[in-house]
Amino acid sequence: MHCHLNVRETVLKRARITGTGSCVPEKVMTNADIEKFIDTSDEWIVTRTGIRERHIISDDQNTSDLATTAAKNAMEMAGVTAEEIDLIVLGTISADYPWPSTACIVQENIGAKNATAFDISAACSGFLFALENAVAQIKSGRIKKALVIGAEALSRIIDWEDRNTCVLFGDAAGAVVVEAVEGDRGILSTHSHSDGSYLELLYQPGFGTRHMPTEEALKNRNYFLQMRGNDVFKVAVRMLTEVAIEAVEHNGMTMADVDLFIPHQANIRILEATAKRLKLPSDKVYINVDRFGNTSAATIPLALDEANRGGRLKENDIILLDAFGGGFTWASALLRW
Ligand code: ACO
Repeated sequence: MHCHLNVRETVLKRARITGTGSCVPEKVMTNADIEKFIDTSDEWIVTRTGIRERHIISDDQNTSDLATTAAKNAMEMAGVTAEEIDLIVLGTISADYPWPSTACIVQENIGAKNATAFDISAACSGFLFALENAVAQIKSGRIKKALVIGAEALSRIIDWEDRNTCVLFGDAAGAVVVEAVEGDRGILSTHSHSDGSYLELLYQPGFGTRHMPTEEALKNRNYFLQMRGNDVFKVAVRMLTEVAIEAVEHNGMTMADVDLFIPHQANIRILEATAKRLKLPSDKVYINVDRFGNTSAATIPLALDEANRGGRLKENDIILLDAFGGGFTWASALLRW
C-alpha cells in the first residue's frame, strides 16, 4: 500500500479580514418622526434603548441592494476582484425573497461567477454564524477568499403599529472579505450556539409553511416580527456574557487583553449590562446603536467597518465580536487585527 501525505496541505490556514464595507440607506427616521404616528416619546425610546435615529430603505430598495454596495466597498478595500471570490455567505432575516438566497442576488450583482453563494438564518447572530462558516472553509483549504455579509431591511418585517417593537430596528448592511493568510494576525476563534426552546420569545410567525398568508393571518398581523422584549433581555445578557468569556478563555487570554469589544447593537442597556459583567471599561466598547438602531445581522459588520474606517483598529489589536438573536442563537469571534 502506498500512502502519501502532503504535509503542506495539512497545515491549517489562518483566515483574516482584509477589507470591510457597509451601506446604510439615506433616509433617516428620528424618534421625533416616530412620535408623529405612534404613542411613544423620544424620552422613552432613548432611556429604554439608547436609540435616537435609524435608517430606513426607500420603496425602490431591497436588502440585496444594501448588501451589494457593502460587498463592493469591502472588496475595494481588500483589493480583490469579484472573480477571485470563492464563497458568498450572507446572514439575514429579511431576505429579498423566501428563496432563492439573497447571496445569489449579490453574486449576480457583483459578477462573482466563481463563487458558491447561500444565506444563513440565525437572526442577529447571522453575521457571526456566516463568518464561522467562511473561516472553517478557509481553514480546511477548500476556499481562499470569501465575502461574508450581514444585511437587513427590517423596516419591511416590523409592525409599524406596534410600539413595543417598531422603535427598535433599522436597515443596513455590512460586509467583510476574509482571506486565507499565513501568520498570527487574523481570526483566532469562532464559537456559536443555539437553543430552539426559546423560539416564541422572538420570531416572525408568517409567512412560512406554518402560517399561510390567509386573510385572517393578515388581519392578525401574523406577518410581522414579534418579541417578548423583557424575557429576551435577560437571556441575551447572560448568553452574550458567556460566549464572550468562552472566546477569550479559548485563546488563553483574559478580558484585559481585549482592545475593542464590538457587540451586537440591540440596545444600550443590553450592551452596558454585558460590558459591566465582563468588566470592560466603556472606552473599549463600540456603540453606534444610537444612530442606527438594531439592524440585526448587519450591526456587527457595520460597526466593524465604522471602527476600521474611523482609524479605531490598530494592527495586532485584539477585537471581540459578540452576538445574540432569535432562535435563540448566540456567537462570538476573537480577532487579532
Ligand atoms: N413607547 C412608550 N411606551 C412603550 C413603548 C414605546 N415605544 N414600548 C413599550 N412601552 C410601554 C409598554 O407598553 C409598557 O407599558 P405598561 O407598563 O403600561 O404595560 C411599558 O412601556 C414597559 O414595557 P416593558 O416591555 O416592560 O419595557 P422594558 O423596560 O422591558 O423595555 C424593551 C422594553 C426596550 C423592548 C426591552 O425589553 C428590551 O430592550 N428588550 C430586549 C429587546 C431586544 O433588544 N431584542 C433584540 C435582541 S435580539 C435581536 O436583536 C433580534
